[in-house]
Amino acid sequence: MKKLLVGYVSRTGNTQKMAEFIAEGIRFSGNDVVLKKIAEIKDEKDLEGYDGYVFGGPTYHRDLVGSMKTFLFLAQKINMVGKMGGAFGSYTHSGESAQMIFDTMEHVYKMDMVDLGALNLKEHVVNTEEGLRACQDYGKAVGQKLA
Ligand SMILES: Cc1cc2nc3c(=O)[nH]c(=O)nc-3n(C[C@H](O)[C@H](O)[C@H](O)COP(=O)(O)O)c2cc1C
Repeated sequence: MKKLLVGYVSRTGNTQKMAEFIAEGIRFSGNDVVLKKIAEIKDEKDLEGYDGYVFGGPTYHRDLVGSMKTFLFLAQKINMVGKMGGAFGSYTHSGESAQMIFDTMEHVYKMDMVDLGALNLKEHVVNTEEGLRACQDYGKAVGQKLA
């Protein structure tokens, strides 16, 4: 059994819901998962010991929130080369964040990213059956690629 970290930031709960559903999908794939707000990840030690990482954050002002930018600098300090990765986020109209996180993980950290790409869900979809399924399937895909 492999162990994954799902780290996320969320102001109003939509990306948090996605994180919870993705974590369920990872569990369904038979892997262990730890779910953490990025505010709880204080230093490199909190990021070590995982076989894969899924990071998520919403889009505000066509950008990542500041705490996610700071977190991505922190995450750069640990070696994640070749580790399994995925990224997600919720949005209403432009939705840049999920792809920005995904690109950083792929091109800066040189991680082995899930074939599905970033999971970017409009906020009105997050709390629907379709949203639940999309997130769980994403978590399963990450877990299966790891196995
Ligand atoms: C002030 C403000 C600015 C926003 N800017 C954007 C934006 O530029 N692009 C976009 O797609 N969504 C934008 N949104 C919508 C949020 O991304 C959306 O509500 C998202 O679901 C919030 O996620 P959270 O609940 O995890 O914080 C904005 C929302 C607010 C309140």
